[in-house]
Amino acid sequence: MATTATRTWLVTGGLGFIGSAFIRMILRERADVRIVNLDAMTYAGNPANVADVASDPRYRFVRGNICDAAAVEAAIGAGVDAIVNFAAETHVDRSILEPEAFLHTDILGTHVLLEAARKHAVARYLQVSTDEVYGHVATGESSEGDPLAPRSPYAASKAGGDLQTLAYFTTYGTPVLVTRGSNTYGPYQYPEKLIPLFVTNLLDDQPVPVYGDGLQVRDWLHVEDHARGILQVLERGEIGNVYNLGGANGRTNLEITQRLVSACGRDMATHVRHVLDRPGHDRRYALDSSKAHRLGWKPARDFESGLGETVAWYRDHEAWWRPIKNGTFGEYYKRQYAERGAR
Ligand code: DAU
Repeated sequence: MATTATRTWLVTGGLGFIGSAFIRMILRERADVRIVNLDAMTYAGNPANVADVASDPRYRFVRGNICDAAAVEAAIGAGVDAIVNFAAETHVDRSILEPEAFLHTDILGTHVLLEAARKHAVARYLQVSTDEVYGHVATGESSEGDPLAPRSPYAASKAGGDLQTLAYFTTYGTPVLVTRGSNTYGPYQYPEKLIPLFVTNLLDDQPVPVYGDGLQVRDWLHVEDHARGILQVLERGEIGNVYNLGGANGRTNLEITQRLVSACGRDMATHVRHVLDRPGHDRRYALDSSKAHRLGWKPARDFESGLGETVAWYRDHEAWWRPIKNGTFGEYYKRQYAERGAR
């Protein structure tokens, strides 16, 4: 079917949580943009995440890994105007169990995409990164110019990707941008992460495993706000720059747990298990996002109502998460949590 699209963006990892939210937003709000979604369909890549846009004539799916230069070439085809790299191994606990996949995807995969961006003279390359590259911040907020101090194999791999990306700007003049987002929540998040894991356990009347004392602080950002921040940086950011995207909603894990327990009608005493802490667990992240604010971006979603809507979404979309929890996730859960002493 003919479209009015005049630009093509390659989105990698678009079957994942934030990538799929970004694709839905672009197809809704940028009538002149065609999306090619290159996704390896690893455990976290789920076609159901884009089911509502899969038949859009401006959407094309290509199955492939960003580490595979031939697959990247096939996705780029005659050329693209921008590359937005969401493809990544993202879960800190998995990186502690098996770090190697993180080095491949998050460093080597980024390199393959940067080479493609250079070869095809792509107008913009955006690397989606994370606040975890700054490491633990005891007080204050991390700014874009702060030294990187990643402390998990995941964070170190993402930092490697960031540094490769920025080196391509310095060395080859590749028009790159980097975003560093904070903890993201919302619909379609794979249930290995804190919020969807706890909500789905609680809906099933199962206990939730809080690491250590639960007083670690994370800054929460709604996935739509995160996707919009990435779009803003892609369209308005100054090339060669890094932009923090934080939600300014610092909460302890116990506060989050308390809210989820009560939203699901359970109680703390029977449903919360304090289990062995994550090795090297970063105590606190906090971002100074004023640079992105100056581009005109600000999170629009209120955290309390966003969290309530998210709980409601998982309650209403059991058909989305039940097959995941009944599938290979179950094996991972046993392996991950048996060692921690969760019952
Ligand atoms: O900060 C941005 C990062 O946020 C992203 O770059 C990562 O891809 C994403 O996974 C997330 O990392 P975290 O390690 O902060 O997210 P996670 O949901 O795994 O854990 C959030 C907090 O909750 C963290 O302090 C560990 C704790 N936690 C997590 C799980 C899964 C628990 O106490 N129990 C759990 O079972």
